[in-house]
Amino acid sequence: MADATHATAVIVEIKRQERPDQPARWETFEVACRPGMNVIALLMEIRRRPVTRDGRETTPVAWEMACLEEVCGACTMLINGRVRQACSAIVDRLEKPIRLEPLTKFPLVRDLVVDRSVMFEQLKRIKAWIPIDGTYDLGPGPRMNEADRQVAYELSKCFTCGSCLEACPQYNPLTQFIGATNLSWVDFYGFHPTGAMNQHERLDAVMGPGGVQTCGNAQNCVQVCPKGIPLTNAIYRVKRAALRRAFQRWSES
Ligand code: SF4
Ligand code: FES
Repeated sequence: MADATHATAVIVEIKRQERPDQPARWETFEVACRPGMNVIALLMEIRRRPVTRDGRETTPVAWEMACLEEVCGACTMLINGRVRQACSAIVDRLEKPIRLEPLTKFPLVRDLVVDRSVMFEQLKRIKAWIPIDGTYDLGPGPRMNEADRQVAYELSKCFTCGSCLEACPQYNPLTQFIGATNLSWVDFYGFHPTGAMNQHERLDAVMGPGGVQTCGNAQNCVQVCPKGIPLTNAIYRVKRAALRRAFQRWSES
């Protein structure tokens, strides 16, 4: 049985950058890791004693975290070159030395912290909500059929971590692609009996520049999504719905 108190020295290389306008640098740390530690615990050890492997004092590393159980997405970063959540990355299972870098598709704030607010702005663009004014009791509403409910449940697992955007070759400033997560949310609201009433507005929002047609079907998104959401199926359904919507708009013009 593993000795829970036994610590192993682990080398960690972290890409540091004080501010977006300053040059990046790599710093190497040696951390005593206990069995079962995740990358967040490892970063906390470094923050407790911010001294590099060659004995130089440095500033504490900045990173974000909140839920510590893969439901908020705040700790998403590149770990050994792969996008994933630091709270669910167990040190024992990672190749060594461990390399930590910030996401590259979002504006850098500092060290491992990036500004992911663009994802929340895009949720507004696609009207990712059910319009309810709340002034009167709507009653229970229509029941969803079981097959639709099961599909929608899988789609609802998205926690806006940004992994699919980081891994997508089409998600870049040139294409302004809205990305798999948002297309998946459009698909989700189309399954909801009330959400479907405004689905034409969501489809209109993803038919412009950077919309659903920008997807190049690389399928990287499904490879990296930590919740295993069938993103390519969702994108396919949105592409078909957008085509129908385009015909509808053309016939009404
Ligand atoms: S679809 Fe998956 S990878 Fe993309 S933001 Fe949602 S949970 Fe993360
Ligand atoms: S801290 Fe919330 S996903 Fe990792």
